[in-house]
Amino acid sequence: MSPENAVFTPGLSNVVAVQTRLSRVDGEAGELVIAGHRVEDLALRHGFEAVSHLLWHGALPDASKLESLRAELGRRRVAAHRLLTAERFRPLADPMDSLRAALARIESTPDPEDDTLTIVAAAPVANAWWWAHRSGRPAPEPSPRLGTAADYLRMIASEMPSDIEARSMDRYLVTVSDHGMNASTFTARVIASTRSDLVSAVVGAVGALKGPLHGGAPGPVLDMLDAIGTPEAAGAWLGRELEAGRRIMGMGHRIYRVRDPRAAVFEHAVTELEASGGPARRLALARAVETEAEAQLADRHPGRSLKANVEFYTAVLLEALGVPRQLFSATFAVGRIAGWVAHYLEQRGEDRLIRPRSEYVGPAPR
Ligand code: COA
Repeated sequence: MSPENAVFTPGLSNVVAVQTRLSRVDGEAGELVIAGHRVEDLALRHGFEAVSHLLWHGALPDASKLESLRAELGRRRVAAHRLLTAERFRPLADPMDSLRAALARIESTPDPEDDTLTIVAAAPVANAWWWAHRSGRPAPEPSPRLGTAADYLRMIASEMPSDIEARSMDRYLVTVSDHGMNASTFTARVIASTRSDLVSAVVGAVGALKGPLHGGAPGPVLDMLDAIGTPEAAGAWLGRELEAGRRIMGMGHRIYRVRDPRAAVFEHAVTELEASGGPARRLALARAVETEAEAQLADRHPGRSLKANVEFYTAVLLEALGVPRQLFSATFAVGRIAGWVAHYLEQRGEDRLIRPRSEYVGPAPR
C-alpha cells in the first residue's frame, strides 16, 4: 500500500497499562523484583513451591503450608501421569506442541485454585513423558514425596539427582517464574480478562512461549558453544558471525541495558555444580564467549549496551543438570507456569477486559 493511501490517526496509543503486584523489571538497574523480593534472594533461599505460593497468595508460606503444597503437587503429578498414560494418547513430535497438547487435555473446573494445582503439577510430568517416549523408555512414575524440581530431574534422568542438582533446578524454576509483562504472560492475561478458564490461559501462554523470539534461544546458545569448541576460538568465530550479519544468541535484551540479573543467578549455580564435582565442561568456555561477544558487540554498536541475557547461562545450567536441549523451552514453561497462573488470578480479580486499540493504516473508504 502506498503511503498516500494510508489513513493515519496520530496520537493513537496501543499500549496497554497493566498494574501488577507480581514482578518489576528494571532494565537500567538490572533488577528483577518478584512480589517484593529480589530474584537473587528468592533463588538462594527458597524453592519452587514457596515462590509459587508467594506469587499466588502474596506471601511466602509457613512450614506447614509449604509442606501441604509440596504434597498436593506431588499427588497431582501422579494423577497427571495416569491421565497421560491411561489412553492411547501419544506425545507429539515437537516438545512444545506436546506440552501444549498434554495441558489442553486437562478439563477445567469452576475453581481456578484447583485448576492451578492440576496444571502446575502436570507440566513437568508431560515433559518427562515426552523425553521418555523419545528415548524409547516407558513414561516415568512421579514420586509424590519429592519436590517439583527434584522429581522433574529424576523423571528425566531416571535416577535421583544429588541435593545440589535438585537445588540448582529449584533456583532455575524460581528465577524464571515471573518477568513482567512478557509475551506469554500478556497472552495469559488477555485470555483471563475474557473470564475464560485458567487451563485455556496457560495453554495459550505455552503457544506464545514456543516462538523463537521468546523462549527459544538457549538451544541455539549450546549449538554456538559446540561450534566454537575452545575459549581461544571464540574471538574469530564471533567475528565471522557478526561480519555475516548474524546475531549472537544469548546476548542483548529488549529491556535490560546491563547484564540480565538472572544470568548471574545461573552462572553462580553452574559454578557451584562444577565445584561439587559435576561436569566441568562448559563454564570456562561460556565465560570466554560472553566476554568476547560483549567486547565485539560494544565495538560494533557503541550506542547500545548488549550483554548476556537469561538464555545464555540457562543453556549452560540446564545442560549441566542433564536436561536435553530439546526440552529447554518446555523446562522454562515448568517454572514460568507459576507466573502465568498468578497473572491469571490477578487479572480475574480485576475483572476488566483487555482490549487494545488498533491503528488503522489501510485505505480510506471510497
Ligand atoms: N547479536 C548481534 N547483534 C545484535 C544482537 C546480538 N545478540 N542484539 C542486538 N544486536 C544489534 C541489532 O542487530 C541492532 O543493530 P542495527 O542497529 O545495526 O540494526 C542493534 O544491536 C540494536 O538492537 P535492537 O534491535 O534494538 O535490540 P532489540 O531490543 O530489538 O532486540 C533481542 C533484543 C533480544 C531480540 C536481540 O538482542 C537479539 O536478537 N538477541 C539474540 C537472541 C536472544 O538471545 N534472545 C533471547 C532474549 S531473552
